[in-house]
Amino acid sequence: MYVQKLDLFSVLCCFLLSMLSGQQVVVVRGRVLVANSNSHPSKLFVFGDSYSDTGNTDKTQSAWEYPYGITFPGKPAGRFSSGRVLTDFFAKSIGLKRTPITYRQRNETSLLTYGMNFAYGGTDLESSMTLVTLAGNDYSTYIVRNGSAQGWKPCITAVVNQLAINLRRIHGMGVKKIVVNALQPLGCAPSNTAKSSFQQCNETENSLVVFHNLLLQQAVTKLNSEAKDSNPFVILDLYDSFLSVIKNKGGTHFENPLKPCCFGISSKYNCGSVDENGAKKYTVCEDPESAFFWDGVHPTQAGWTAVYSVLRSTDLQH
Ligand SMILES: *[C@@H]1O[C@H](CO)[C@@H](O)[C@H](O)[C@H]1NC(C)=O
Ligand SMILES: *[C@@H]1O[C@H](CO)[C@@H](O)[C@H](O)[C@H]1NC(C)=O
Ligand SMILES: *[C@@H]1O[C@H](CO)[C@@H](O)[C@H](O)[C@H]1NC(C)=O
Repeated sequence: MYVQKLDLFSVLCCFLLSMLSGQQVVVVRGRVLVANSNSHPSKLFVFGDSYSDTGNTDKTQSAWEYPYGITFPGKPAGRFSSGRVLTDFFAKSIGLKRTPITYRQRNETSLLTYGMNFAYGGTDLESSMTLVTLAGNDYSTYIVRNGSAQGWKPCITAVVNQLAINLRRIHGMGVKKIVVNALQPLGCAPSNTAKSSFQQCNETENSLVVFHNLLLQQAVTKLNSEAKDSNPFVILDLYDSFLSVIKNKGGTHFENPLKPCCFGISSKYNCGSVDENGAKKYTVCEDPESAFFWDGVHPTQAGWTAVYSVLRSTDLQH
């Protein structure tokens, strides 16, 4: 999976190189978004994972199964949520009329009107803290391969170093604005808080995320200082925005923000799981918009709305 994605990444780099001419917005794998700095960008390219995928995965994935998509578009359509996801909110906030089409939906006439979404949800998303990003995938691989506590920091350092190399490459292709997310607090994901009946975030995991985000901040500061143009790299802070909503500082209405709307009836099952007879092995809350988290990993549309209202204050122009 990971190797496949890297290959895809190389292909996309060539593709972008041929398509970009300065007025576009690009988004990069691991939820890196790229936008034009001066004027209203006309296009958005997204390279990410299930937090930003709007329908690239194949139809065997949970995002294409009921109850995904029940809030928007009203049926499963490849988004890992009850409804709209980060890409939809981001596209709207930079003034695009539409979310860019997915790579999967591309055709000659619709190609690149608003950019394109290459984000791809992983196959093992529901299973662990791996969730979504470039980093999420790399970290889940690490847990499987090694998982020793003292190995974490070297692993995180290697991931961020590689991310910085990729960011520099994208900027080198002529992209004017590159927005990369700080990791969300993985220790607060329902898949990790189920053990505490969704009462407590895992602070050990969050402290590793904080370390990742610190290195990312340092890398971005360095990249900006080396760039000839003014601060092309911007961090979209999913860590503070998620925590602010979860801790209810934003005055949001989620009763228990750590409790997901849709969850497997036991740890063997996930949202959307059915057994061999087609019997449901999950429960769904009555009103998805009353929950922050949709499944073990992903926010609901209401969750993303709340996160985005905190993020809106993020200055993408600086
Ligand atoms: C191309 O894609 C657009 C948007 O998904 C769709 O409206 C249109 O019908 C498609 N055209 C063809 C020729 O498939
Ligand atoms: C796991 O990581 C530790 C610390 O980096 C290292 O010493 C050890 O050899 C690794 N083990 C495996 C099986 O890779
Ligand atoms: C928190 O996460 C760490 C690392 O994954 C794990 O070893 C630990 O058991 C978790 N703590 C709780 C209370 O779940």
